[in-house]
Amino acid sequence: MQELVYISEATKAFSTSELAELVSTARKNNALMDITGILLFDQEKYFLQVLEGPEGNIQALLSKIKNDPRNTDVLVVHVGNISHRTFNDWSMSLKEVDSKRLNLFKNKHLLGEVISEVPSGLVGELITRFCLDEYTEGER
Ligand SMILES: Cc1cc2nc3c(=O)[nH]c(=O)nc-3n(C[C@H](O)[C@H](O)[C@H](O)COP(=O)(O)O)c2cc1C
Repeated sequence: MQELVYISEATKAFSTSELAELVSTARKNNALMDITGILLFDQEKYFLQVLEGPEGNIQALLSKIKNDPRNTDVLVVHVGNISHRTFNDWSMSLKEVDSKRLNLFKNKHLLGEVISEVPSGLVGELITRFCLDEYTEGER
């Protein structure tokens, strides 16, 4: 099973209903493709998505997303093999996150150094927790 994390840039402003439609399509398709994960959006510019599932299905979905005109500059920041999932249902929840957090992941070089120290299978979870602010300021 593969875990893939990418960041991309929104090409337009999304209304609540447009986002809801995107997520609803994702849920429907991902359940059929055995893909789980989470979608983070700063409500302005950047998406970060964690995808988990069979490698072929993840790669097929990534090509669809790369061709989706609603986003651009799809940058894969991590890909690796996992033995179990961090996200166990097909809900593909959408969470609003602080753009400052997502911005950090634009620096692939910096991120690569951090990620190389993280055990395989924990990267998606770690990035998500970081973006969702579960690590509070001052906690080092
Ligand atoms: C940021 C972003 C994330 C997306 N995530 C998913 C996803 O997890 N699963 C999915 O099926 N489509 C996702 N999409 C939509 C796909 O690009 C594509 O529009 C959709 O899969 C087409 O579905 P259809 O073939 O049923 O029309 C995403 C699009 C964007 C812009």
